[in-house]
Amino acid sequence: MAIHNRKRILVTGGAGFLGSHLCARLLAAGHDVLCVDNFFTGAKDNIVDLLASPHFELMRHDVTFPLYVEVDEIYNLACPASPIHYQHDPVQTTKTSVHGAINMLGLAKRTRARIFQASTSEVYGDPETHPQPESYWGHVNPIGLRSCYDEGKRCAETLFFDYRRQHGLRVKVARIFNTYGPKMHPNDGRVVSNFIVQALRNQPITLYGDGAQTRSFCYVDDMIEGFVRLMDSPDEVSGPVNLGNPAEFSIRELAEKVIELTGSRSELAYKPLPSDDPRQRRPDIALAKEHLDWAPTTPLEVGLDKTIAYFDDWLRRLGRGAEHPSH
Ligand SMILES: NC(=O)c1ccc[n+]([C@@H]2O[C@H](COP(=O)([O-])OP(=O)(O)OC[C@H]3O[C@@H](n4cnc5c(N)ncnc54)[C@H](O)[C@@H]3O)[C@@H](O)[C@H]2O)c1
Repeated sequence: MAIHNRKRILVTGGAGFLGSHLCARLLAAGHDVLCVDNFFTGAKDNIVDLLASPHFELMRHDVTFPLYVEVDEIYNLACPASPIHYQHDPVQTTKTSVHGAINMLGLAKRTRARIFQASTSEVYGDPETHPQPESYWGHVNPIGLRSCYDEGKRCAETLFFDYRRQHGLRVKVARIFNTYGPKMHPNDGRVVSNFIVQALRNQPITLYGDGAQTRSFCYVDDMIEGFVRLMDSPDEVSGPVNLGNPAEFSIRELAEKVIELTGSRSELAYKPLPSDDPRQRRPDIALAKEHLDWAPTTPLEVGLDKTIAYFDDWLRRLGRGAEHPSH
């Protein structure tokens, strides 16, 4: 990209799983990237390769406090994303979504920046309609264990659309469905990373319930492409737009695929289903196709192979690779 197209782009939660991939992508496209993170779930290791670039800046900051910087675009990703992490301090989770949104929207208002919100399929709760189009209002428990995340994200969406209506802000809201890839947290209970680490260690693979509940899994590169296309779309495209992979698998099928690809000796272990765990979740991506010309292109096997390679390397670096199937 030519220098005159260089934008100053803020990525909150930039040291996390999705944020670190997004920072790398924006930097490679020739932009100045400011990564803001409080390192609650993110890690410097995720962005260590970017630190040498003069166009990359890292700031330790909590988005529940105001931030004054000059930027052209804001990607607001800061928020713990896995139940283990967001339930650790549920009040802080709601604050991160709600106060974080208010602070970032205030910044966008002052700087007239475009602003992207990483919302979630969890706004649909335990859906009664499949697949979920953006017009579905959801089926959410407001007082359950997951509510700090689900309702926090729903309130953030409300704020985004009120800032658009009230202040004419250019907002972009993506409802992200399950995404996986390198740099996911190894121990945060998310299903793909869990299964891969268990398989690489030849430990039993934990399935909750009977494993028949389905999920759709989108590879991280496809997701980041969706983020950038949404941010670059015309102002009238504000969303919310579902981004995810409509290809649906049962959790049991995923476990079996991971065992096959890792050549693991792991067996399946069944545990009770946690409360509020949705039975089925699958995006309707017609809007993303129509407005962004976007659909995932990475087959599950290809994405899983790359993710397995990442965790294999991580386990080796940890010095705990002794139980790896190839040993
Ligand atoms: N990964 C998915 O499948 C998925 C699905 C739906 C939505 N999302 C959303 O995408 C975003 C990124 O998710 P992720 O998977 O990369 O999670 P992640 O936990 O890896 O990244 C979140 C980042 O935000 C940072 N953070 C948390 N609270 C903060 C605060 N108060 N101030 C500053 N930084 C803070 C964390 O340290 C971390 O680096 C989140 O908003 C999440 O809700 C992700």
